[in-house]
Amino acid sequence: MASHRFRVVSGSENEAFCSKRAKICLGVFLGLLVLVAVAVVLGILLGRRSPKHQQWDGKGSTANFREIVLGRCYTYTQLVHPELSTDCRKIEKAFINAFISKDPCSATEEDYVPLLKLGDQTVPCDKTVFWSKTKELAHQYTWVQREMFTLENTLLGYIADDLSWCGDADSSEINHESCPSRRNCSSNFVSVFWNLLSKRFAENACGMVQVLLNGSISNAFDKNSTFGRVEVHSLQPTKVHTLQAWVVQDIGKTPRDTCSGSSLNDLKLILSRRNIKFTCQENYR
Ligand SMILES: *[C@@H]1O[C@H](CO)[C@@H](O)[C@H](O)[C@H]1NC(C)=O
Ligand SMILES: *[C@@H]1O[C@H](CO)[C@@H](O)[C@H](O)[C@H]1NC(C)=O
Ligand SMILES: *[C@@H]1O[C@H](CO)[C@@H](O)[C@H](O)[C@H]1NC(C)=O
Repeated sequence: MASHRFRVVSGSENEAFCSKRAKICLGVFLGLLVLVAVAVVLGILLGRRSPKHQQWDGKGSTANFREIVLGRCYTYTQLVHPELSTDCRKIEKAFINAFISKDPCSATEEDYVPLLKLGDQTVPCDKTVFWSKTKELAHQYTWVQREMFTLENTLLGYIADDLSWCGDADSSEINHESCPSRRNCSSNFVSVFWNLLSKRFAENACGMVQVLLNGSISNAFDKNSTFGRVEVHSLQPTKVHTLQAWVVQDIGKTPRDTCSGSSLNDLKLILSRRNIKFTCQENYR
């Protein structure tokens, strides 16, 4: 009896105590829950505001970059120029290693040296074609004249044509969100790549080289283009004797520049200083 009573009393005391404690427990629990919920919401909001990658001005790396590089390399070495034997897996690796885990604004030519070694290729004399604002036409031309080469008809130019790529210093992943544009920094990996590849392409040219220029724009020869900024100055007078320019006029459009225009005169001057013969012809298409 006594023990029963004791049990009841102690039970009711326990109940009263526990329900008080339960309220405190519940209060603390709910408080924690609210805190956690607030933290989660804040985390999501802040996470959205400052994503893992910086927001650059240019578009992010091309989707499936690795696969495209590898696929294009195989297409080129198996179908387009089967005489060129290259290890495409090594090319893919060297390309990725050039920019992965690096600050996308601090690209240097050295980053691409291993890739350029693997992609080394000789273009025969008299077969080099440069273009400026005439890319599509130039590629139609080399598609028909299979022995001619624009930069994009060489292995590395073919692989990288129209792609974009960059990484991140704090991550070993390809950045598909955004990459620095030229406005963000001139030493971005895409610009450094094309400048270097264009320079090598022009340095290796020999014999008579050609350039397709656009007569439908006022500066057919643009000193700021890759051709005007890099390629013209990289031609080797010991190897290149003549530069043949074609000023291409679009039929139905008013010609805005010609062989006798001031921009072509600038080109003529640059070449005469460099002891390279210059010829120019206009062409309609
Ligand atoms: C890149 O350039 C754009 C436009 O100039 C600018 O808004 C953006 O903040 C730049 N990004 C970085 C990370 O500097
Ligand atoms: C010349 O430039 C204009 C304007 O960018 C373009 O529409 C045209 O196709 C170009 N011409 C050639 C021959 O590429
Ligand atoms: C060429 O580039 C320089 C420096 O980037 C710039 O100041 C100049 O205005 C540009 N010229 C043309 C014709 O675009």
